[in-house]
Formats: sequence, C-alpha cells, structure tokens
Amino acid sequence: MAAERMDGADLANRIREEIAGEVSSFVSQTGVRPGLAAVLVGENPASQVYVRNKRKACQTVGIHDVLIQMPAATTQAELLAEVDRLNADPQIHGILVQLPLPTGLDELEVLDRIHPLKDVDGFHAENLGRLASGRPRLVPCTPLGVREMLIRTGIQTRGRHAVVVGRSNIVGKPMALLLLQKGPGGDATVTVAHTATPDLPSVTRQADILVVAAGRPEIVQADWVKPGAVVIDVGIHRKADGSLCGDVSPAVASVAGWLSPVPGGVGPMTVTMLLHNTLLAARLQTQASTPA
Ligand code: GUN
Repeated sequence: MAAERMDGADLANRIREEIAGEVSSFVSQTGVRPGLAAVLVGENPASQVYVRNKRKACQTVGIHDVLIQMPAATTQAELLAEVDRLNADPQIHGILVQLPLPTGLDELEVLDRIHPLKDVDGFHAENLGRLASGRPRLVPCTPLGVREMLIRTGIQTRGRHAVVVGRSNIVGKPMALLLLQKGPGGDATVTVAHTATPDLPSVTRQADILVVAAGRPEIVQADWVKPGAVVIDVGIHRKADGSLCGDVSPAVASVAGWLSPVPGGVGPMTVTMLLHNTLLAARLQTQASTPA
C-alpha cells in the first residue's frame, strides 16, 4: 500500500491563518506590529528564493518585514555592525541572517551577535543551550516545523524509535533534542546517524520515525525503511532537468506508512515556524519592556 502523504503545504496554510489571527490580536492589544529583518549577504540564488518566500509569508500574516541586502564583499565588521543596528531597532523583533554566508565570514560569530530574544532562527548558543537543557524558547524553524507536522498529523512519538540522519546545528541536532524532550512530539528514543555512521541502512531500518536531513539527493532508498515507518524528508535539491527532489527516493512511498513530499512537505512548515517565532519574539520583547 502506498504511504499516506503528509501535506505540509496545506497544514502550513492552516497554521498561517491561525498566526494571522494571533498577530492581529497582538497588534490590537499592544499597539506593536511584529517586525522581521532578513539579512541577505551576496547573491546565492537559492538564498534569494528562500528569503523572498519568507518575506511573502510575513506579508500574508501581517508581520512587518524588511530586507537588508549586502554585497558579497561585506566584511565581518560591517555585518556585525548591521546586526548591532537591528538589535537596537525597536521595530524589529526578529533578525534572520540567511545562511550560508559568503566564504570568509564567520557564521557563528554573526549568529551569536544577534540578540537572543531576536534570534528567530534559534541558532544563538543561548537558544540552542536552552533547548538542550529542556528550557526551549526560540527553537530552529525546520525541526519545529517537523515536530508540528508530526503532532498535527496525530503521529505518536512517545516510546517510538526516531532516527535522525544528519547532525547539523540547523536541523539534525535540534531535531534530535526536540524528539527527546518530554511532552507532545517528544518522548522518543532517539538515534542520530551521520556521514561517519557505518552501514547507515541498517540504522535507518530500525526507525519508526525517520527524519532525513543528510543533504544528499535521494540517498534513502526503499530498502532503507521499515514497512509502515513515518518518513520525513528535509532535503531539497535541484536536479539537472530543473525539477526538485529530496533526500528520500520516491520509491520509499511503497514501503513507508507516511511520507512528507518534496516540495510541499517540510519547506512550507519551516517558513510558517519562522512566522510563529517572530510573533513569539515580539511577545517576549514586549513583555520584557513592560514594567512589572
Ligand atoms: N539556510 C538554510 N536553512 C536556513 C535557515 O533555516 N535559516 C537561515 N537563516 N538560513 C538557512
């Protein structure tokens, strides 16, 4: 039997409607409109598309958005100064520095310069540390979107074996931490596999829930998957013929119980969680500045 399709695009639209309502109530209660600044350095075509999609999504829910475009030759000092300026701007509640940065710029230093309450990507060491210690605040958008998709699809994670393929700070590590957490979308037994894992298929075959963020086109084949497993494909790649594919082969649909498509799976959920985080950041900053 073919896997059920996890329609991230449809779910994302429904959540965006909820967020639009919450933004509107927040604005009427506080007089503050949540604002997001996207910083795009250089001319990476994929980054340009991602940033355009994020800005469009802001506009659909009433979040104020600004784009800061900087040339590829921007220095570290210039980029840090821009982050400082946005940290001090009261109309900006979320700062997103699109990655990857051009070669020569120190990403970690830039990400740690963003005020932790404006860190809507959840990449600041403080926010990742809070997640690791069970006190999450702003959580990276892609893993948050995957968790939301699991919860809203009614998939049990408690007591099940989740295998995450990939150990990046953006997806793999925070995804594993979310699945480990106590509560909805968590309580799983978690294995993290990566490029140094021997016999990867023997590990992925143990997964009840398989999250693939390997960054390799269609690496996961049908015989890597346990029959009936939930398979979430975080990859996105452009093939030579111009079409898009993920890290999971379409043949997996004949084995899995659930499969998230590419495109139309995790991608729209990631953007939606950015909207969620921007509203949360605005709430946190508005509370922080309200006298007790
Ligand atoms: N590059 C790839 N994914 C992301 C993301 O989630 N946030 C940012 N800022 N850059 C990215």
